[in-house]
Amino acid sequence: MFSEIDISSLELNPFTTIGEEAFLITVGNEDKWNTMTASWGFMGFIWRKPTYAIVVRNTRYTHQFLEEGARFSISFFPPQYRRALEFCGSHSGRDTDKMAATGLNVVTVDNYLTYSEANTVFCCQLASKTPIAPEGFIDPTIIDNYKAGDYHTLYLGFIEKVLIQEN
Ligand SMILES: Cc1cc2nc3c(=O)[nH]c(=O)nc-3n(C[C@H](O)[C@H](O)[C@H](O)COP(=O)(O)O)c2cc1C
Repeated sequence: MFSEIDISSLELNPFTTIGEEAFLITVGNEDKWNTMTASWGFMGFIWRKPTYAIVVRNTRYTHQFLEEGARFSISFFPPQYRRALEFCGSHSGRDTDKMAATGLNVVTVDNYLTYSEANTVFCCQLASKTPIAPEGFIDPTIIDNYKAGDYHTLYLGFIEKVLIQEN
């Protein structure tokens, strides 16, 4: 059972929550959707709104959904789901049923897809997309992240609501 909380009451450190922990990006609708694990991103303020930023390589199946989508969810999980997140981060929804393989249960909350096992969910309205291109790299080491030429797209989503699991 999820309940909405005021974003100003969030108590988390983005440098440990994002980067050290992983989360699921879920995009689509009940008929057609996909999810993948991510651990890069940002949260902050732009255009007067609380915003969550994700970076998704153009090779991901999820990238296709984001190109067509209007919203996405960011779902964080308790530590016992680490293996499920590893699975969703090492298999593609193009040829794998990630829910069948992990046992995660997708649920719809206020038009957003998330999971009954998630403990914190950011519901985001897609606001902008920006391809990350090497012409913009000032630090010369950044290019090392793109040996296969699979550049990220930076997607910004306005955070419409934050849900937490009530146990
Ligand atoms: C811990 C972890 C973090 C990841 N973070 C990202 C990320 O931030 N951006 C990205 O494009 N891929 C990231 N990946 C890789 C994707 O999750 C992986 O390629 C996934 O299989 C893509 O699934 P899809 O093809 O169904 O979209 C990460 C994988 C793991 C295990």
